[in-house]
Amino acid sequence: MEPIRVDIAYQECINAKCRARFDVGEPLFECPTCGDLLDVRYDWDRAVLPKRLEDFEAKWSVPGDPLAFSGVWQYQEFLPFAPPQYVVTVGEGKTVFQQADRVAPFARMNAGRLFLQYEGMNPSGSFKDNGMTAAYTHARLVGASRAVCASTGNTSASVAMYAAVDGRLPAIVLVGSGKIAYGKLAQALDYGVTVIQVEGDFDTCMRRVKQVARELGIYLMNSLNPFRLEGQKTIMYRVIEGLLWQVPDWVVVPGGNLGNSSAFGKAFRELYDVGLISRIPRLAVIVAEGADTLYRIVNQEQLRWNDGRVDDARIQAFYEQMDAENRRAKTVASAIEINRPVNLKKCLRALEWTDGIVEKVSDQEILNAKAQIGTGGFGCEPASAATVAGVRTLREAGVINADDRVACVLTGHPLKDPNITVAYHTMEADAIDATYGAYGFHAAAYANRPIPVADDLDKIVAALQA
Ligand code: F0G
Repeated sequence: MEPIRVDIAYQECINAKCRARFDVGEPLFECPTCGDLLDVRYDWDRAVLPKRLEDFEAKWSVPGDPLAFSGVWQYQEFLPFAPPQYVVTVGEGKTVFQQADRVAPFARMNAGRLFLQYEGMNPSGSFKDNGMTAAYTHARLVGASRAVCASTGNTSASVAMYAAVDGRLPAIVLVGSGKIAYGKLAQALDYGVTVIQVEGDFDTCMRRVKQVARELGIYLMNSLNPFRLEGQKTIMYRVIEGLLWQVPDWVVVPGGNLGNSSAFGKAFRELYDVGLISRIPRLAVIVAEGADTLYRIVNQEQLRWNDGRVDDARIQAFYEQMDAENRRAKTVASAIEINRPVNLKKCLRALEWTDGIVEKVSDQEILNAKAQIGTGGFGCEPASAATVAGVRTLREAGVINADDRVACVLTGHPLKDPNITVAYHTMEADAIDATYGAYGFHAAAYANRPIPVADDLDKIVAALQA
């Protein structure tokens, strides 16, 4: 393929009343004119694009080229905002797309119709690396000297890993104290970045990190950063690649800060607009019952994208009511324990573009689904399992058909949160109820109990024959 063109990229405010434009060289995480979210946009008419998606297969056989090796940058034609010499890549995005026939019955799907996209196979163990390689690349492009993020754990692990591997951009991460799973905290500590444990939850950290980024002029790595979402679009290209260049009927994704759902909608919309796909799959965003802002905004408040004129006053009133009720996010799926998703409006747009829907699932359903995903293959962390739990619910409701082709994005690795997994498999129902009852988790339907046995061969043999 010819070299890509990067002079065709710009940033644009998503608000139809504003639509202010900015150069890609400006480090922004909100529109300086109106404060709304920004998009990275491209003049596709001047872009160098393949004629067919199959043409990307040529990159599978390019030895020694890190940009062809990366599961993100092999699709750089769809995110042409930086010259190749700025790209910071650690070989992210080499993930696994698997037909999951052993999980399909639990999800009430027919054999051959449920697929799992294992993003936990990324170098830092979550989908975040797809976005972080793009954000780090942009940070280098604009000459940033420090990076900062707020996190429920995976963003911080990913930022910390890139900071460690790249070595040119020191990072600071803000996490809610006691709010992040140990696997993720361990990563940030081990990679040697500055870890600030803020008293409070993710929503608190997110509010503070914006202030810190503004006050100290530090480059923000959260998904408010539109360049991060450009990298996350590639997860969808790889799903299509996994289906040998066909689109599924449904893409199912957990909703937290709503970066992924926003990025996926944009990916499909762009492919459709440039004529590389003829049909856009439907997006199902699954939230946890204890962190259900999106569900309530869409299904109860009936708020819509409305061509870029979202009713801001109603969102504001919704959040004020939430504060008045002192409602805080609470779910064992700590990755998505978020009540004020920063990409809410972009997600509404993605739902519009994809004829998408929002469903919620309980922590009990999430953990049962997680155990089934584990039994059926590589496993995932709790937030990721919301997808399969959501498919099961949507099958029951008759929204998804057993013969639809459904791709669930498993966003994080099973070892991210070993505590909840061990608790699920080892605790008695009354202990689960006492510890996790407030989360709506009461009993482990698929517990795989370890068998305690004395150091005695006869007893071990007897246990195996029981
Ligand atoms: N799944 C996992 C494993 C996550 O870590 C996250 C978000 C999500 C799903 C939700 O994705 O925000 O794009 O809707 N984790 C962020 C973090 C918030 O800080 O690591 P989203």
